[in-house]
Amino acid sequence: MADRSFPDGFLWGVATSAQQIEGGSSQGGRGESIWDRFAATPGRIADGSDARVACDHYHRWREDVGLLKWLGVGAYRFSIAWPRIVPGGRGAINASGLDFYDALVDALLAAGVLPFVTLNHWDLPQPLQDRGGWGARATAEAFVEYAGAVSARLGDRVRHWATHNEPWCIATLGHEQGEHAPGHRDPAEALRVAHHLLLSHGWAVETLRRAAPGAEVGIVLIVVPGWPARPSEADREAVRRFDGALNRWYLDPLFRGRYPADAIADRVRLGHLAGPDLPFVREGDLEAIATPLDFLGVNYYCRAVLRADAAGDPVAVPVTPEQEPTDMGWEVFPQGLHDVLVRLAREYRPAKIYVTENGAAYTDAADATGRIADLRRIEYIDSHLAQAHRAIAAGVPLGGYFAWSLLDNFEWARGYAMRFGLFDVDFATQRRRPRDSAHWYRRVVAAGAVDDLTQQPLLRRIP
Ligand code: FCB
Repeated sequence: MADRSFPDGFLWGVATSAQQIEGGSSQGGRGESIWDRFAATPGRIADGSDARVACDHYHRWREDVGLLKWLGVGAYRFSIAWPRIVPGGRGAINASGLDFYDALVDALLAAGVLPFVTLNHWDLPQPLQDRGGWGARATAEAFVEYAGAVSARLGDRVRHWATHNEPWCIATLGHEQGEHAPGHRDPAEALRVAHHLLLSHGWAVETLRRAAPGAEVGIVLIVVPGWPARPSEADREAVRRFDGALNRWYLDPLFRGRYPADAIADRVRLGHLAGPDLPFVREGDLEAIATPLDFLGVNYYCRAVLRADAAGDPVAVPVTPEQEPTDMGWEVFPQGLHDVLVRLAREYRPAKIYVTENGAAYTDAADATGRIADLRRIEYIDSHLAQAHRAIAAGVPLGGYFAWSLLDNFEWARGYAMRFGLFDVDFATQRRRPRDSAHWYRRVVAAGAVDDLTQQPLLRRIP
């Protein structure tokens, strides 16, 4: 692996999700999702927007496949809109929903782009929420039915399947902190939700393997490394609690078949569990959850710097970053990606890892010629790729990297103000324009290696 070249066969990609780009929210027989309902509730989305149109990808998908082809990426990670396939949550399958993805998959393959499918990127059908959502065990059964319907149709062509995207976000942001759909603030429910997500994952792995023999099946987790704000015992303990609740709560069941005892004790202390026995776990659940995976998908954006509050629990502190934070307010901390990958490989030994999301929100205006010089995004991606490269050199079985995102899109509770796209989207006209980062990523993908930015005459360094 010379200088900054990546190994042969490394998968270069970009990622999106259905709720964030598709629009067409009541077309083609699509049902309502919990994010449609959430966005329709005043005060939930920062800019008061919703995802009824989003990037109108539902109508412009051919053009978007053209963008992927132009980029030259080997893979495209997208998600299937569950309410497009099972509008009622259970029962009748909407054939026109399957037709949409069937045509998309064929167009991708014809463009030389591998479809990398996520089944659940947060858009639970509202009718399932009405029956208890992820807090209800029956939702895990509904997910397996949905996975069965999609894989029966696409399993002959899709070779990469992820069950869920970031179960921590669904459980904690959606059910404990109330910032995401369905907006609950119930820590005990959040733990049930996490379990039912993991359980449905384990069950669906079997279903997917049957429908798509030889395909790679995995799950996508957000992994956030915690750092103590001060070199104190208390802050290190706060980091342990944070890591237990966010990272190990998912990694340990998936790779070790058990929830982490220290993190369970933390939940008992907080009153979220009555005792160390998890009431929602039934016989056989943990074995199902720990079904061996073909890959672990890792979404990495930043670290968390933590100090202990009076009770010893973690509180994120604003750091003084070397570089300005992204528009999300997230610190740019590329080294964290290397550290996360190395840790996962050492402690959990996944067969393969993909970085399934990494990227940054920045707003840059177009100049008079229409060029959008988003140098900060280029530096963000380049510096993270350099760390991914270091991780490979250290022996991490990293199979690919997906930049988030192909397009500016509906950034959940933050609405449209957060721009993550390699392509700028003018939401009034739906015009897509490549930012400099798109041109740059295209070169990286063609070379299979990242640039040394200092050698790029085109780019000036960010002061
Ligand atoms: C991740 C989500 C993705 C996107 C990025 C910025 O948590 O998976 O949909 O919103 O954050």
